[in-house]
Amino acid sequence: MILVTGGAGFIGANFIHAWFKHTDEPVLNLDKLTYAGNLANLAKLNDDPRYLFTRGDINDRDLLGTLLNQHHPRAILHFAAESHVDRSILGPGEFIQTNIVGSFHLLEMTRDYWNRLPDTSQDGANKRDFRFLHVSTDEVYGTLTPEDPPFAETNPHLPNSPYAASKAASDHLARAWHHTYGLPVLITNCSNNYGPYQFPEKLIPLVIHNALAGKPLPIYGDGMQVRDWLYVEDHCLAIMRVLAAGQPGETYNIGGWNEKPNLEVVRTICGVLDAARPRADGRGYAEQMTFVQDRPGHDRRYAINAAKIERELGWRPGESFESGIVKTVGWYLEHADWVADVTSGAYRQWVERQYGGRG
Ligand code: NAD
Ligand code: DAU
Repeated sequence: MILVTGGAGFIGANFIHAWFKHTDEPVLNLDKLTYAGNLANLAKLNDDPRYLFTRGDINDRDLLGTLLNQHHPRAILHFAAESHVDRSILGPGEFIQTNIVGSFHLLEMTRDYWNRLPDTSQDGANKRDFRFLHVSTDEVYGTLTPEDPPFAETNPHLPNSPYAASKAASDHLARAWHHTYGLPVLITNCSNNYGPYQFPEKLIPLVIHNALAGKPLPIYGDGMQVRDWLYVEDHCLAIMRVLAAGQPGETYNIGGWNEKPNLEVVRTICGVLDAARPRADGRGYAEQMTFVQDRPGHDRRYAINAAKIERELGWRPGESFESGIVKTVGWYLEHADWVADVTSGAYRQWVERQYGGRG
C-alpha cells in the first residue's frame, strides 16, 4: 500500500492511473477536494478494490495518525498543495497553510509512524525500505536569464512568488527531516506539466478552453517568458523511478529539455485546434490572442537540467512537446463535459452534496 496526498488533483490523478498501469499495489488517496481536486479524475477506479479514497486535510493530525495506523503504507507520495501562482499572489494564506504548515504536520506524523515500524520485514512496511517522496517544483530555484545554464540540483533556492516560496519552505522541511531525524526522504523538482485533467486556470488548458469558447487568449506581458514543458505521464513515470531507486536524502530534477516561450506554446495550440476543430468563420484561433497586464514578479525563464535522473536512474521523457500537445488538445476536445463541470461549479455542488462542509 502507498499513501498519495492530493491524488484528486492534476498530477496526483495522472500518477494514480499511471501507477495501476504498472502494478496492482493498492493506493490510498488522501485529498481535501479543494477547487482543484476532482473525483471525476478517478471515476474509472470507483469500483476498483486496489483504490481507496479519504477526503481530508493534511493539516489534520488525528486523521493522518488514524490512516497511517490503519493502512500501514510502505511509502508516502506527497502531491497535495495549492499550486497556482496567480492565486498565490491574490491570496497567499492557503499556500502557507497547506504547502508549509500542512507539509510540516505530514512530516511529523510520518516520522512518528516510521519510528514505530519494524527495522525490516519480509512483507509490509518496514523502517529500512520506507520512503517519503516530496513532489516539488523548479520554481523554487527562482528565475533564469537567457544566458544562464538550466537549473541543477545544486542551485540555491531563490523563490520569487508566494507559491514558489511556500514550496521552497516545504523542500527545506523535507530535507531537514532527513538530515536531522533520518526519515528516508526523496525530493523531486519538476518543470511545467501539461496533459489530461489539468484545471483550466493554467496556461495550456485555459487557452484550449477559451479558444473553443470564443474568448480572448490572455498573454501576460510580452509573452516571451520561457517554461520547460513536460507531459504529465512522463513526470509520473519519473516519480515512480525515484521511488523505486532514488537515494534517500537526494533531490532529483525532472524535466523534458523542452524550453518554449509562451507565445510559441499558444500559437502551437491554436494551430492544433485550427486543424482539429476549425472555427466556424474559417479564421484562425490565433486571432483571439490578447496581450494583457503582466503577472507581478513574473519569472522570466525556467529550464531544468535533468542529467542526474537520466544518468543515475535511467529515466527519460517519452513524449516530445509536439506529440504531447496534440494528445492534450485531443483529450480536452473529447472531455468537454469534464471542462464544463469544473468551470461551471457543477462539480463543486456535487462535492458539497456528497461531503457537506467537511474537508
Ligand atoms: P493541483 O492543484 O491540480 O492539485 C492539488 C491537489 O491537492 C488537489 O486535489 C487538492 O484538492 C489537494 N489539496 C490541496 N490542499 C490540500 C490539503 N490541505 N490537504 C489535502 N489535499 C489538499 O496541483 P498539481 O498541478 O497536480 O500539482 C501537484 C503537486 O506537484 C504540487 O505539489 C505542485 O507543487 C507540484 N508540481 C506541479 C507542477 C505543475 O506543472 N502542475 C510542476 C511541478 C511540481
Ligand atoms: O514550473 C512548474 C510550475 O508550473 C508548477 O510548480 C506550478 O504548480 C504550475 O502552476 C506552473 O506554474 P506557471 O506559473 O509556470 O504556470 P501557468 O500555467 O500559470 O503559466 C505558464 C506561463 O504562462 C507563465 O509564464 C504565465 C503565463 N500565462 C499564464 C496564464 C494562466 C499567460 O501568459 N496567460 C495566462 O492566462
